[in-house]
Amino acid sequence: MTTLLQINASIKNSQGQSSQLADQFVAVFRERNPGTRIVVRDVAAAEPVPHLDAERFGAFITGPEERNPAQHAVVAYSDTLIDELKQADVIVLGLPMYNFGVPSQLKAYFDHIARAGVTFKYTDKGPVGLLSGKKVFVFAARGGLYAGSPLDTQSSYVRDFLRFLGMSDVEFVYAEGLAISPQSKEAGLAKAVADIARLAAQYPPAERVAA
Ligand SMILES: Cc1cc2nc3c(=O)[nH]c(=O)nc-3n(C[C@H](O)[C@H](O)[C@H](O)COP(=O)(O)O)c2cc1C
Repeated sequence: MTTLLQINASIKNSQGQSSQLADQFVAVFRERNPGTRIVVRDVAAAEPVPHLDAERFGAFITGPEERNPAQHAVVAYSDTLIDELKQADVIVLGLPMYNFGVPSQLKAYFDHIARAGVTFKYTDKGPVGLLSGKKVFVFAARGGLYAGSPLDTQSSYVRDFLRFLGMSDVEFVYAEGLAISPQSKEAGLAKAVADIARLAAQYPPAERVAA
């Protein structure tokens, strides 16, 4: 059975444009792949991920036997987030742009899933990501127009971070110009919806249908 993990990162919860685009993709995906197990993790609005501080990071680097109860709780929370990722075949990320970057709660989520020896390891040849074999779809919502320009550091940051953890098969769908004018919003959303239909049509992959 396919498991799809939907990560929403809008401060507007399911009303965010990025969450709505992710929802649309998941709806089409579910139709085409009946029986898919859907897990939703809202990192910004419903259950905001706390920012990483010295105490929380300290829990990560303390050995299991030495951890106090508070540290056990911190690691258990991080383990839960990581287990969701490990179990997922497909990951759908709703990605708002806030002040040129990712929502701070999504950064906090990233800080809780990047754990040496758990989701990546250091080798003689450099770091190796341990969350391989996953397909990731990112639905990026922006007020302005950045995709393909040097100002779009958000896309490269997210792509690099996912690759660092072993997730290198990543597709971005952009809904841009949402704050420029009603016309530009309409055009930006229409383009994203067309991209969603195109991408969702690729699933299940042909080789799986034939098998
Ligand atoms: C606090 C805040 C900061 C924003 N900063 C940017 C920005 O730097 N660049 C941009 O293009 N749009 C910016 N926007 C517009 C959002 O990208 C746009 O509203 C988008 O729909 C957000 O995704 P969401 O609806 O899923 O939350 C910002 C919006 C908010 C609320």
